[in-house]
Amino acid sequence: MGSKRRLIPWIHDVLATLDFETALDPFSGTGCVAYLMKAMGRRVTASDFLSFTSLIAQATVANGTRTLDTADIDAILSLRADVDDFVARTFAGVFFTAEDRAFLDRASAGLRGLDDQDARALAYAALFRSCLKKQPRGVFTVSGDLAHYDDGRRDLRLSLEEHFREQVAVFNAAVFDNGRINRALQADVFAVDPVGFDLVYLDPPYVPRSDDNCYVKRYHFLEGLSCYWQGLEILHGTKVKKIAKRFTPFSYRRTAVDAFERMFARFSKSTIVLSYSSNGYPDLDVLEELLRRYKRRVDIFERSHRYHFGTHASVERARVTEYLVVGRE
Ligand SMILES: C[S@@+](CC[C@H](N)C(=O)[O-])C[C@H]1O[C@@H](n2cnc3c(N)ncnc32)[C@H](O)[C@@H]1O
Repeated sequence: MGSKRRLIPWIHDVLATLDFETALDPFSGTGCVAYLMKAMGRRVTASDFLSFTSLIAQATVANGTRTLDTADIDAILSLRADVDDFVARTFAGVFFTAEDRAFLDRASAGLRGLDDQDARALAYAALFRSCLKKQPRGVFTVSGDLAHYDDGRRDLRLSLEEHFREQVAVFNAAVFDNGRINRALQADVFAVDPVGFDLVYLDPPYVPRSDDNCYVKRYHFLEGLSCYWQGLEILHGTKVKKIAKRFTPFSYRRTAVDAFERMFARFSKSTIVLSYSSNGYPDLDVLEELLRRYKRRVDIFERSHRYHFGTHASVERARVTEYLVVGRE
């Protein structure tokens, strides 16, 4: 959700007109924009306050050379004495089959045993994508008997272990070195040191139209899996065993405008490229006015876009205009 993947060619064309060598993407999400800038040969820092998204950025943006071979996979999947059964116990009747849950417990123990942080991140990225593919709608909001979603899709038939082996190959193929030292961080946007970036690409969450917009609500299982739920509080009263969502000021009407202003002030030394959709809050003219307080030149690029998320009834609402608001000088 919220991925700019389909807009990457357009974002590339806009970024290609800008003069920058170093870039920060402090709301990296899937990492696709940071990965684009890496592919453009820039020195990139990707950051996100969630752990699972930071691992994806570590695997694909920061990591330039490490891939996983058969010995790594054997090490991850080997039977070990220290395997906990947390996933099997906690998510029985909620997500996946018993065999898949046992696999996640085993793979989690194996992954934690990998010393190399790039190797571990790459394996996590493959594991997350496997879990998403096996969930009928690619989210963790629905649980229990999912038979009515079963349209015979291969993704639903493969075991998580089979998915994992395939996804390792997919992520291995995505690894490349752009000759720069790129980084991945897990941090709140207001905790990232703003110094030293020619360009900052900002794609914060926007105030949701409905509760359905929350990332943690949709992807809580991956966030939990990324640290084996260590230090996270599970809301046991919830059907899908969610974790508490992280506060972000961008998601609430009463705090969003102030958060944008503080963010623009924080990155005022860099060229700012802000992603914005026509269905967002605050309105575009409010954001433009805020940005003009810090930037002499503000240009707005736009493009119509249809999001492939949502039910048939919401398809119309999903048709939006996408903007890139560029502040310079
Ligand atoms: C709209 S998504 C970014 C999508 C990304 N550009 C992509 O194409 O995949 C927003 C991201 O910001 C993260 N986030 C929300 N509030 C944050 C904060 N205060 N600091 C850092 N990251 C935050 C969320 O975890 C989410 O991954």
